[in-house]
Amino acid sequence: MSLVVVIPAAGAGTRLKPHTDTTPKPLLAVAGKPILAHILERVAAARPDRIVLVVGPGAHGDRLRAYAAARRDLPITCVLQESPLGLGHSVLQARSAVGNARVLIVLGDTIVEAPLDRLAAEGSWIGVKEVDDPRRFGVATVRDGRITALAEKPERPETNWAVVGLYAIRNSGLLFESLELLERAGARTRGEIQLTDALQRMIEQGEELRPFPVKGWYDCGNTEALLDANRALLDAHAEPVSREGVVVVPPVAVDATADVRDSEIGPHASIGPGATVRRSVIRHSIVNEGATVEDALLDHAVIGENQVIRGSR
Ligand code: G1P
Repeated sequence: MSLVVVIPAAGAGTRLKPHTDTTPKPLLAVAGKPILAHILERVAAARPDRIVLVVGPGAHGDRLRAYAAARRDLPITCVLQESPLGLGHSVLQARSAVGNARVLIVLGDTIVEAPLDRLAAEGSWIGVKEVDDPRRFGVATVRDGRITALAEKPERPETNWAVVGLYAIRNSGLLFESLELLERAGARTRGEIQLTDALQRMIEQGEELRPFPVKGWYDCGNTEALLDANRALLDAHAEPVSREGVVVVPPVAVDATADVRDSEIGPHASIGPGATVRRSVIRHSIVNEGATVEDALLDHAVIGENQVIRGSR
């Protein structure tokens, strides 16, 4: 059976403004490369027949299309979500690209450490993680190794199992049928067509969805989460870096095209392609592509694409 990966990537990234004014959220850097590059690296392990990136209209959509086109190493196609009607609506746009293949959905701002090749092989799985306060997530009720109910951002969650944004679905026909039903009926939760509601309908139709507890989950939803992801991913995967005239405190990621001089970098610094750094100290921070940092001390900062920071030390 063939496998299609769907990556919804049309979200506005409101909680990461102002960075998402210039850069689509999936292309913001974390641990040395775009969030989307981390996701693609992981889904590639499942050897999908096709990867469908759902993008929005306008400049952000164009940037994502250009990124996808440049990734000739992977079978990526883009589909358009014209209006921001919710995650469920976004997934529905991939319907004809998926056909009746198995589908693996990974949200475009979510990096997970999970054996995607195994999850994509059989059955239907929803990635979950136990959290202290699950009210800003989908929440799963689990009984005897099965998910018996799903609710989107409930005020009174039944459990602490948050839905992390990773879904492996065998019966894609029933998934798309459920999404289309929600769309036609005008069924909205919190104003949007929800993937969670379609999955809940699948459960009601007798579909077996099993929980998959995910250990590493980096949702990259806001600046703090982005910096947490940066730290954890550098801790796990950073490679040694050395630059003349630069004090490197590992782990760090410094793009080969970044021009860094007379500075102290790290720990947990990520310096993007074409960035320029002079006479600065950068710790626990992300400097995106093309940014300039001079005479500055950065600690827990995210510097946007092409942004210029000039301080006095
Ligand atoms: C979406 C899903 C939600 C899930 C979350 C994970 O919400 O609707 O069920 O828990 O992703 O990040 P969003 O973050 O898009 O509001």
